[in-house]
Amino acid sequence: MADRMPTVAVIGLGAFGRAHLQAYVRAGARIAAVADRDPDLAHRTAEEFDVPASFTDAVELLDAVPIDGVSVVTSAASHVELAREATLRGCKVLLEKPIATTAAELATLPDAARSRILPGHVLRFAPLHQRLRTEIASGRIGAVRGVAAGRSRTRDHQRLYADVHPARMTGIHDIDLVTWLTGSPIRRVVASVDGEPTSLVQAHLLSASGIASSIRVSWLLPDGAGAEDELEVYGQEGVARLRVDSTGAVLYGQSRERPWAVAPPTDTPGLDAEISHFLRWLRDDVEPLVTFAAAAHAVAVADAIVASGTAGGTPIDVLEVPSWTKQ
Ligand SMILES: NC(=O)c1ccc[n+]([C@@H]2O[C@H](COP(=O)([O-])OP(=O)(O)OC[C@H]3O[C@@H](n4cnc5c(N)ncnc54)[C@H](O)[C@@H]3O)[C@@H](O)[C@H]2O)c1
Repeated sequence: MADRMPTVAVIGLGAFGRAHLQAYVRAGARIAAVADRDPDLAHRTAEEFDVPASFTDAVELLDAVPIDGVSVVTSAASHVELAREATLRGCKVLLEKPIATTAAELATLPDAARSRILPGHVLRFAPLHQRLRTEIASGRIGAVRGVAAGRSRTRDHQRLYADVHPARMTGIHDIDLVTWLTGSPIRRVVASVDGEPTSLVQAHLLSASGIASSIRVSWLLPDGAGAEDELEVYGQEGVARLRVDSTGAVLYGQSRERPWAVAPPTDTPGLDAEISHFLRWLRDDVEPLVTFAAAAHAVAVADAIVASGTAGGTPIDVLEVPSWTKQ
């Protein structure tokens, strides 16, 4: 089996590119090359992970090194361009979220590229998020009538990700979770934003099937604090709650004392499972667990949230609502 292990590369070697590399090492993948436009970082990271080649120009890497797949873990502005270059060369891409900064930018990708991209919507692979979806599918809370999601990050995000709106950078997780858990795309949003730069986003999402959900993103926690995520799913016969913070994750119904499932703290929930899935996709062409269509829809919903927030809360219809988002 080891000799069928795919050969991969990682482009973008910041905190999360490093997390991808560590996950590839744990999975036993062959890492043939890394790239970062920061030459010291590229060189140091290659040495540290014993990777044979490093590049400052990602396209040079794609031209020079034969690989089956590549993780694109750069800042959002370069995702579409690098995905285009990699897929043009026949390579499959694990493309970090947000897969594009806007739907208009995403529309510039050729159709042929779309089937070669696995969007990095990592929470779909996180054990407790998967368990939540399984519980919902088994009818434990009855038919889903709404979702409320909150995601708080530290203030330094305002500086570290200054070029990406929080709805796109952080809220994209919750947009995707809402469509994944309700099974329905979003058709209209009403949003408010606050802060200069924007550091608080609250949005009301109306799905094509009439389910109303809300998401809240803040980049206002003190620097050094742990992230705090909460997700509530309201069903006709009960409520499911998922809390994630620096003490770990807990999934429960009515009683927090008797949780349905718990998980230890981790900075990268789901990443090992996502990387393993990507490697299986490269090796065996299994059905991808996150579709391009679902991630493209999430980008379009984020566009609508930004537009509504900018317009002071005007309702905005999401462009191109899929008749069904394959989940
Ligand atoms: N799924 C998650 O939970 C999660 C968590 C963190 C980050 N991310 C995503 O991962 C990506 C990277 O995040 P980060 O925190 O590591 O960012 P970062 O800014 O720390 O690192 C990005 C790195 O990419 C490099 N880079 C940028 N453009 C490049 C290009 N064209 N060619 C080569 N190198 C380039 C930069 O030099 C930098 O080292 C973002 O898209 C982010 O949304 C996802």
